[in-house]
Amino acid sequence: VLCWFYIYPVYRLPRDKEIVEEVLRQGEVWQKNQTGIDLYRKLLTDCCDPRRMFAVTKENSPMGKVLWYDGEFYHSHTVNNETYSLFVQDNPLQLPLKKCAVVGNGGILRHSRCGQHIDQADFIMRCNLPPLSKEYVEDVGTKTHLVTANPSIIEKRFQNLLWSRKAFVDSMKVYGSSYIYMPAFSMKPGTDPSLRAYYALSDTSSNLTMLFANPEFLRTVGKFWKARGVHAKRLSTGLFLVSLALGLCEEVTAYGFWPFSVGLDEQPVSHHYYDNILPYKWFHAMPEEFVQLWHLHKSGTLHMRVGHCP
Ligand code: CDP
Repeated sequence: VLCWFYIYPVYRLPRDKEIVEEVLRQGEVWQKNQTGIDLYRKLLTDCCDPRRMFAVTKENSPMGKVLWYDGEFYHSHTVNNETYSLFVQDNPLQLPLKKCAVVGNGGILRHSRCGQHIDQADFIMRCNLPPLSKEYVEDVGTKTHLVTANPSIIEKRFQNLLWSRKAFVDSMKVYGSSYIYMPAFSMKPGTDPSLRAYYALSDTSSNLTMLFANPEFLRTVGKFWKARGVHAKRLSTGLFLVSLALGLCEEVTAYGFWPFSVGLDEQPVSHHYYDNILPYKWFHAMPEEFVQLWHLHKSGTLHMRVGHCP
């Protein structure tokens, strides 16, 4: 006999319209809550130790260490001479970071005029090598301190770096001298493109520093959010970065997180600020993630900017 709770889920995700209403009810009000900030930093430190573990380093991944891929089962990489030499010695960030901005790629950034606000932060994190060309500067800013790059971008946008290393290195210049954070040990097919990206940058004495995301950190952050009701095959890049920021920064503001097709003015919103290509449906659970982030916003732990900047 089927229990009733198999038929009627106890928890229902609010509809887009309900979320818009809820966000409008809250309005622009945001009050920083130091207790909430301290609590989340402690929770994240206890579960995931971001200070020590967010990147693969010589310190946390010595020669012979087995790195288990977090994005698939039964695959691992044993640190060897070649890979060990590519790791930074230790966490290179000057901690604690003060004001951090985490910039998602949501279409709500379009016409937001948040660029200056974002650029005022002490540490700015962006997702998936986003465009920062002139037309977007006013809305998303110009500075970057850490930017993630998915190996699939290297394959698709830069033909796996087999013959377009210069185009890749040139297009990285907009990120200045930031860290490029790649999940090289999350999925087996992602390792080679990530190592190629490392060599393309180091062969050309680029100003960027490659950091490989530590699969152990990504796995523990995934578990942290699963225990809080985010049921996705994999967390979105943006939620990984917000988690990292909550663990490392004194204050966190998030921009460009809005996985809904209508805005607060009930007008359509594109998925990204630069295009409207939608993600695979069931891979991430961005609306579920948004609900969690909104709780943190309401409690004063994280400042979510979903409207225009003043
Ligand atoms: O690769 P992924 O689909 O995770 O990310 P993306 O489309 O490049 O966007 C970067 C991040 O911004 C996502 O990981 C989400 O956390 C956030 N995002 C959002 O909240 N709402 C959107 N409409 C688009 C992105």
